[in-house]
Amino acid sequence: MRRIIAAVCLCAALLVSALSSAAEKTYISIATRSTQMVLGTNDNGELLFLHYGARMGAAEQFEGLKTYRRVDYSMDPQAYPAQGGRYYNVPALAVTYHDSDRNTELRYSSHKVEAVSSDMTRTSVTLVDSKTCLEVKLIYEAYYDTDVILASSEITNGGKKPVVLDAFASSAVNLKAGKYLLTHFYGSWAREMQMESELLTHGVKTVENKMGVRTTHTENPSFMLSLNTSTFDENNGEVIAGALAWSGNYRLSFQIDETDQLSILGGINPDASAYPLAKGETFRTPWMIWTFSSSGAGQASRNLHRWARKDGCYSHAKVCPTLLNSWEGAYFDFGTKTLTDMIDDACEMGLEMFVLDDGWFGSTYPRDNSKQGLGDWELNEKKIPEGISYLADYAHSKGMKFGIWIEPEMVSPKSNLAEKHPDWVVCSEGREKTTTRSQWLLDLTNPKVQDFVFGVFDNTMKLAPGIDYIKWDCNRHVEGFGSSYLKEQSRFYIDYIQGLYSVLSRIREKYPDVIVQSCSSGGGRVDFGALNWFDEAWTSDNTEGLSRVFIQYGTNMIYPACITGSHVSAVPNHQTGNVTPLKFRFDVACAGRLGMELQPKNMSESEKEFAKGAVESYKGYRELVFEGDLYRLISPYDGNHYALMYVNEDKSKAVVFAYCIRYQARTKTPLIRLSGLDGSKNYTVKELNVPEGKSCFWGDGKEFSGEFLRSHGINPQLVKLYDSAVFIVESK
Ligand code: DGJ
Repeated sequence: MRRIIAAVCLCAALLVSALSSAAEKTYISIATRSTQMVLGTNDNGELLFLHYGARMGAAEQFEGLKTYRRVDYSMDPQAYPAQGGRYYNVPALAVTYHDSDRNTELRYSSHKVEAVSSDMTRTSVTLVDSKTCLEVKLIYEAYYDTDVILASSEITNGGKKPVVLDAFASSAVNLKAGKYLLTHFYGSWAREMQMESELLTHGVKTVENKMGVRTTHTENPSFMLSLNTSTFDENNGEVIAGALAWSGNYRLSFQIDETDQLSILGGINPDASAYPLAKGETFRTPWMIWTFSSSGAGQASRNLHRWARKDGCYSHAKVCPTLLNSWEGAYFDFGTKTLTDMIDDACEMGLEMFVLDDGWFGSTYPRDNSKQGLGDWELNEKKIPEGISYLADYAHSKGMKFGIWIEPEMVSPKSNLAEKHPDWVVCSEGREKTTTRSQWLLDLTNPKVQDFVFGVFDNTMKLAPGIDYIKWDCNRHVEGFGSSYLKEQSRFYIDYIQGLYSVLSRIREKYPDVIVQSCSSGGGRVDFGALNWFDEAWTSDNTEGLSRVFIQYGTNMIYPACITGSHVSAVPNHQTGNVTPLKFRFDVACAGRLGMELQPKNMSESEKEFAKGAVESYKGYRELVFEGDLYRLISPYDGNHYALMYVNEDKSKAVVFAYCIRYQARTKTPLIRLSGLDGSKNYTVKELNVPEGKSCFWGDGKEFSGEFLRSHGINPQLVKLYDSAVFIVESK
């Protein structure tokens, strides 16, 4: 998204500008390969939202449209509904003017269409409130190939006096269907992205977060909406998916009104965030990302993933190396030898990178536990007297990459930083600062703090030549919000995230190639706003295989597998106590970006041998995971099994993962239809990492037609709890 903005300046823009009076109607069509959004003016000059769904042909067919609403009673669905006038639903925009007037009546003024690239067209529509000269520019970027439309708004105070924005959604979509099945992703720490579906009823449903940072544990700013059905379907029916690219407070609202029309709004949560706008000032909202599928939820996910890989995520599907992370294997308890031994073992198992997690810094207040040291980012020489460069060189000398952990937005009360800069801590004046995990949050609205946070990254990079990877953690949210820097406290939540993005932008300018992970107590910062800067995310602190099935299934509904950090850890699992076979743990982790997070010293030789084989085979097919199309074959919510596949673009090669996840399966083998294959091709099915050389599938190594595999399927004998299998399916 950020890169596309740059592209606008480079490309010769095709400009189509239109001005119209209220009387002559204007129709605006925003189309992709298979989808279309249509806006159009009415007799009053209001901009109506007319269509979002499959392509419907010329927008002008709406000429003469009658909606049969009482025009003296309410308003037809608006492209960007504003508070006041005859609008009674939740508004996208609410403004308080200097004279305390709270009505805004937006009217179409002009629009233009620019061909930004061969694949993307930008449409900007300007609306104006004539009394106050408040101007709203609605911006739509249509990505033709991936069927994704981005929408945001720019609100400019064109009047002479300051105004206050009380609500400022990024985008509004209006739909009319018989039923609306909303699927969203709730959870908590260590239980992120649990899928929940519900039929919407009249009234307002919101999916939101108000925790300031670490905003995606309890709900994710994304959803799927299945139309005219009560059941979530992978392969059939009309589905709209939406996601907000913002890492702060957000609100997605769904309101069914008296005419059964559904109005969806997506944007920054306006709660406690009234935003003052001086004369001439512009406020730009984050992107709301939309896609539409007429063949079920699977295609909606694939559209989002393809867009994310190509345009939406920083990583562009660059393959992130397999790694060993020190956290669950060593926690705070290590010295140089512990780490070099871990590097030796990781190298032995074929892993490509070592990541030193929390605990390496702090001298006055050494970071030997989670109670102190955050903010003091100098090496703890007692622990690692040889220096970080020694460790990085050690890894590099073995042909491995080296990564390191930071948590730059935070400060421990017990730290030199807190003593030196108490005013840098988020806190409302005169109130007590509350700690979470014994830490405070730094006030990123303050440019000096932004410089400091940039410096933490920059200085860490200088600890050793060639640091390849930074894990950026964020382990608390906002409480008792307040800033000693800001004059208007209601700007806090928004300015914090803008401050964060500004730091990340500086980092990316200086370090475009360093792999940076977004971690926030696991999956607390998994959103397309963060992924614009981060290569990948730490999906969850819960590394246990069975829990991960559900967490990764939900995460990959919206976000692509290439951003899904997924580690094999020890048993009993440190979060759940559950004991699962090593093969199951690997087979689950291999469906994302594979890593390990344990003390290899505690593994037996045969476990290490198995791990080595699994890592090696993963390297052989991981491009399918990073760049292939995801087909969900059996939902873990539906029964005893879970299965998914990734297939390459020409459908010549796929990897299939299948798992038994419940006890009562002993009499039942799954029948897995490989729906992502090409029916006209022939494929060989080969199981990988087969325990004791005995495949669970009678057709292992055999050739089948694509038709057979798609329509009938394979029936691996996965009958005991945690049985699992990985198959490569390849056509010659
Ligand atoms: C929370 C992260 O999610 C963990 O992976 C680990 O990095 C710890 N923080 C370290 O404090």
